Amino acid sequence: MTLPDQDETAGTLPPEDLSPAQARTELARLAALLAHHNEAYYRLDTPEISDAAYDGLRQRYTAIAARHPDAEPQDSAANAVGAAPDSAFGKHRHMVPMLSLDNVFDREDFEGFISRATRFLRLNADGAQHLALVGEPKIDGLSISLTYENGVFTRGTTRGDGTEGEDVTANLRTLRDLPQRLAGPCPELIEIRGEVFLSKADFLALNAAQEASGKRLFANPRNAAAGSLRQLDPRITAERPLSLFAYALGFSSAPPTHSHWAYLQQLQAWGFPVNPLSRRIAGAADAEAFFEHVSAERAALAYDIDGVVYKVDDLALQDRLGFAGRAPRWAIAWKFPAEQATTTLREIEIQVGRTGALTPVAHLDPVNVGGVLVTRATLHNEDEIARKDVRPGDRVFIQRAGDVIPQVLGVTPASLDMPDRAAPFVFPTHCPVCGAVAVRPEGEVVRRCTGGLTCPAQAVERLIHFVSRQAFDIEGLGDRSIGEFYDAGLVRTPADIFTLHTHAAELEKREGWGEQSVANLLAAIENRRTISLSRFIYALGIRRIGASNARLVARHYGSYTNWLTQMRAAAIIGSDARLELGSITGIGTTIAEDLVAFVAEEHNLATLADLHAALDITDEVAPQSGALAGKTVVFTGTLLTVTRPEARATAERMGAKVSDSVSKKTDLVVLGEKAGSKAKKALELNIRTMDETEWNAFCNSRNSSPAPTE
Ligand code: IVH
Repeated sequence: MTLPDQDETAGTLPPEDLSPAQARTELARLAALLAHHNEAYYRLDTPEISDAAYDGLRQRYTAIAARHPDAEPQDSAANAVGAAPDSAFGKHRHMVPMLSLDNVFDREDFEGFISRATRFLRLNADGAQHLALVGEPKIDGLSISLTYENGVFTRGTTRGDGTEGEDVTANLRTLRDLPQRLAGPCPELIEIRGEVFLSKADFLALNAAQEASGKRLFANPRNAAAGSLRQLDPRITAERPLSLFAYALGFSSAPPTHSHWAYLQQLQAWGFPVNPLSRRIAGAADAEAFFEHVSAERAALAYDIDGVVYKVDDLALQDRLGFAGRAPRWAIAWKFPAEQATTTLREIEIQVGRTGALTPVAHLDPVNVGGVLVTRATLHNEDEIARKDVRPGDRVFIQRAGDVIPQVLGVTPASLDMPDRAAPFVFPTHCPVCGAVAVRPEGEVVRRCTGGLTCPAQAVERLIHFVSRQAFDIEGLGDRSIGEFYDAGLVRTPADIFTLHTHAAELEKREGWGEQSVANLLAAIENRRTISLSRFIYALGIRRIGASNARLVARHYGSYTNWLTQMRAAAIIGSDARLELGSITGIGTTIAEDLVAFVAEEHNLATLADLHAALDITDEVAPQSGALAGKTVVFTGTLLTVTRPEARATAERMGAKVSDSVSKKTDLVVLGEKAGSKAKKALELNIRTMDETEWNAFCNSRNSSPAPTE
């Protein structure tokens, strides 16, 4: 397979600055790269790039896809966990999917994980501080799932694509570390998960033996372990000294314990090796000390690790936290930092994104960092350039970690002393695209072009997005005609599109346009005066609101008026509206902030008003699946066992639309403590009610825990 070119303009821009077209190209490029590396890593067991470089690609993909979900290629390899099972092995479907872990690389992002989890659970500051965790080394091997029926080992599988794995039972039976029978009482049916790995010494010995017999060498212990386990002849596996650590639970017919820590003890009692560095951690503050401790131990360990995994200890809390996308909300991998390199910085270019942000990009002499050729890197913003005193011609340190794109860390000491250094870089005060003043509000690090819709870098991209296929989808109004109408001053804002008919005569006179084509275009525009709320929200081009997020938001709020009212109310941090917004499954804190920020801008409100006047925005309906599909549910009173946002999220997962007021359209009212007038109204209207206990039982019986999306 030929790898796509590593050095494309889109490949160097920060995700927030990509136009929809660039995002599509870049996502396709990244998906192809990820597919290639997935194959090399999971199926061929011969990786071509470092893990950090792979994580970097993946994170960049995720960051771009979050902003442009509609630009994602179909069946993207980036959404796969691992690789599809190899047909040489029998396939087996995991009873509970084997998902991945989200990564963080520093304390700040780790704290972000803790605060997301504690906010989701609505723990108070004290509870948040003392949220008990378990920390374990992140073993760099391959994950496996082991099924025990009545205590007897019956099947072992690789992760495969997360849903289906390869049946490697015969090979796993050869592992000394794996108990063929669990010692002591156990659930009737249980899936136990862990990592199979090869020690560093065994890896070196294996490679020496491979070399002596003229066989292919393995790149690292993990690939040697994977290659050894995925042998068609179990006798070969038996010759390879594979080891095992057990660390997680898949399906269980009965909960084995109440805490993860107790589960680790139980695994040990059953006969599994459990990593001896695992510790119970009293709260977020101790987590960093544990990371330092494990980092210090890393070199002396007999096996490779690539970070630390933290898991919420209480299994009931894990259950409540559930999953978001391909990873649990109750666990995180804090990974060790990655490769650096030195190269020469040739030039500093200032790029202008769709949001007007001026971003400095360093053009570099090509350098290989962790297996990836880097030619550009971000310099973040003007303060960073000044702080690092980076100048053209300098030798600079480059880093690729799990970071979104490579970054310039600083200038080498030798460069600082060069007598012929260039003059300090002066950050422009005007937009390099439109020449408008670029301002930097106090307290912010980003300088932005004030040209707004008049700056071609921003306006045209926004308009193109507005009429794109998943937005208004106006036939005949493509990238080129938008650019043309923009330059002619006919369309400067989205609402201008709907007054184009007043310029019909002028349009007909334009080159390439005639009476018929103008009539067709105007008819296509008329056709789109009626638009669903989700398309409408998507079309606005709000940061991070791609088609799927727009759908989530639209389904939640139902009508344009309700959406707008709630967005305005959500401007107050801590308000019910804000909590509600953040609790919509799939909408995190940052996305909520972006929505609120958009509505907070006066000129956006003006655009909304203009559009609302010109359009018929239709209500959005809930999907027709789940135990409460199409039903309207109202929560009232104080809920004692769950927070209101969590209860809403649960109801929505079951297909319900959650409303604040009781009406004839309400199907169910859940009554918390001190339920007042709404309870009375439900009684009057003869609407079904449940108290909190009944509601919880209903949810449990419908197995409403969030279905992990694969
Ligand atoms: S827990 C729901 N614990 O890391 C996910 N995973 O990047 C449960 N890994 O697929 C995984 N050491 O292969 C867990 N102590 C540990 C781990 C660990 C290594 C691997 C595992 C997983 C991958 C995610």
